[in-house]
Amino acid sequence: MPSIDEIIEGRDICICAGSGGVGKTTTSAAIALGMVERGLKVCVLTIDPAKRLADSLGLEELGNEATRVDPTLLKKNGIEGKGELWAMMLDAKETFDALVARHAEDTEARDRVLGNRIYQQISGALAGSQEYMAMEKLFELHNEGRFDLLVLDTPPSRNALDFLDAPTRMTQFIEGRSLQLFIKPTGLAARVAGRGASVVLSILKRILGFDLLADLSEFFTAFSGMIDGFQERAHRVNTLLRARETAFVIVCGPQAEPLEEAVFFHSKLIEANMNFAGAVVNRVRYRLGTRVPKLKALTADIEASGVEPDLADRAARNLIEYDLLARRDNDNIAGLSKRLAGDPVIRVPYLDTDVHDVAGLCEINRFLFADEETRIELATG
Ligand SMILES: Nc1ncnc2c1ncn2[C@@H]1O[C@H](COP(=O)(O)OP(=O)(O)O)[C@@H](O)[C@H]1O
Ligand SMILES: [Mg+2]
Repeated sequence: MPSIDEIIEGRDICICAGSGGVGKTTTSAAIALGMVERGLKVCVLTIDPAKRLADSLGLEELGNEATRVDPTLLKKNGIEGKGELWAMMLDAKETFDALVARHAEDTEARDRVLGNRIYQQISGALAGSQEYMAMEKLFELHNEGRFDLLVLDTPPSRNALDFLDAPTRMTQFIEGRSLQLFIKPTGLAARVAGRGASVVLSILKRILGFDLLADLSEFFTAFSGMIDGFQERAHRVNTLLRARETAFVIVCGPQAEPLEEAVFFHSKLIEANMNFAGAVVNRVRYRLGTRVPKLKALTADIEASGVEPDLADRAARNLIEYDLLARRDNDNIAGLSKRLAGDPVIRVPYLDTDVHDVAGLCEINRFLFADEETRIELATG
């Protein structure tokens, strides 16, 4: 099994996808850091870094712009050279605002949309908007060409597939009937407004404190001028996701269920003509190097090294249980490899501590950036 740098060799974009909670953010940051160590200028786009990781990278004040991680922080961990680590926390709402600004005909149209209450509600809540905006930002950075590599940590959606569908859903929303219904000059908004203020509307207005219909109508009218731009861009984002320069890495856990999801996600990637590069199975319990004896023998062994009987018993039980879990992880992953038909699978062990700083990421990278033999040696040695 190759190392992660071999897997993403020559790509401009590495998208770490998978279900929430498996270590996507950690893996993205680790890959970025490892490639920096190899001399690249890398930007990691992250969504929900654990606070301690964000703090330790100095990201707490990140806006929607890429910021360079202090090189002295990397140097302290032995990472020097021409590589640069940049990071950015994505803000879906800000990205959406910037998109509106780009596609608006003039500043007046822009302000009308941005200041509109309907827009303010839907820009945050629109189905898949966080996923879409992540890709939008990726697209923008890729076009700017400032970085050798972009690593995208995908949003923590329950369903990894939401992410793949985002550009399509955005286009469907824009092309969809509900929106067109409003936008057409003879559309719903115009018709209802034409009837004058009905009793219902005036009540609504009193309850809401603003004129819902006026806002709706204004929003859709202003938005309609931007539709072509939006559509064309969503198509281009879709194309970039399928381009040769983009590689998908699926991150998952070693339990049966997350692995099942990973296999499913893999099939969807292939179906959508996207480039699957490999899978990272995170928090794996590696088999111990030697065979674990039965409880009695093991307890005796531990006792013999001068440990109290009580403690020796508990330690022995722990060890046996660990071995059992490790065996299960091992079998599960063997199953995954088979179903990925020989595509790379990298195992990263369950570390003793949380990963919340550069040193922790380096620890992860001892495995990510090693070949399989070295990984086994490191984990069991
Ligand atoms: N290999 C690992 N060993 C130990 N802890 C890990 C490992 N990978 C991730 N973690 C910890 O697990 C938690 C969740 O990881 P995170 O990367 O934020 O997950 P996700 O982005 O998929 O929700 C974090 O506290 C992180 O430090
Ligand atoms: Mg995350």
